[in-house]
Amino acid sequence: MQGQQSHSGRGRFITLEGGEGAGKSTQSERLRRRLEARGIRVVTTREPGGSERAETIRSLLLSGAVKPYGAFAETLLFASARADHIDRTIAPALENGAFVICDRFADSTRVYQGEVGEVPRVLVSALERVAVRSASPDLTLVLDVPAKLGLARASQRRELAGEERDRFEAEGLSFHSRVREAFLAIAAAEPERCAVVDAAGPPDSVERLIWAEVEARLLTPLEVAGRPANG
Ligand code: TMP
Repeated sequence: MQGQQSHSGRGRFITLEGGEGAGKSTQSERLRRRLEARGIRVVTTREPGGSERAETIRSLLLSGAVKPYGAFAETLLFASARADHIDRTIAPALENGAFVICDRFADSTRVYQGEVGEVPRVLVSALERVAVRSASPDLTLVLDVPAKLGLARASQRRELAGEERDRFEAEGLSFHSRVREAFLAIAAAEPERCAVVDAAGPPDSVERLIWAEVEARLLTPLEVAGRPANG
């Protein structure tokens, strides 16, 4: 435990954000492997979802069934799912000293429902404070790709899996370009928490860029050397 007291046993919370087809799920898995190779315990999860009840809300939201009720209703449901996900999955893992890697989190609500969905910022912030409480990310990696490239990747993946486009992927190019700009604006406003990673290249090079950020911003020297406190 020597040298690890500054984190007082709490793990660390990493979120991956970005538009469609940025490679977040692939990179979440690759980052998990890299951390585990250093003996760090990791929990990977995703939003919307990540707990049983939140996964039920995910199905509702992504099916488009809530869209007719408007962006505010969707925002409320994203926040409800998030609160349950934090209580059941994220907070217990962090308390146990694990690193949590979450594929999307509160920045996605700020972007999709707030900036692009035009739900007033004051409402999005109030719901974020209620839902997130002390589970705010230590590091947010914004995976950045041009919207056109991201949509092409997402549709290729969907066709291979034989799936339909979800509620948000079905929006047009200008929607997704606004999503990209909104994520970049958050990263520019909160540089301490957020790192923008160029995700247009092949997965191996994106993985290396992500690892460089994680090593530089989050890991202690003991963790870099593969002697973690939580292992
Ligand atoms: P994904 O799992 O493929 O990233 O799909 C989740 C979709 O849900 C994605 O299009 C973004 C959207 N979303 C929101 O609109 N608000 C949110 O708070 C979250 C977490 C996701």
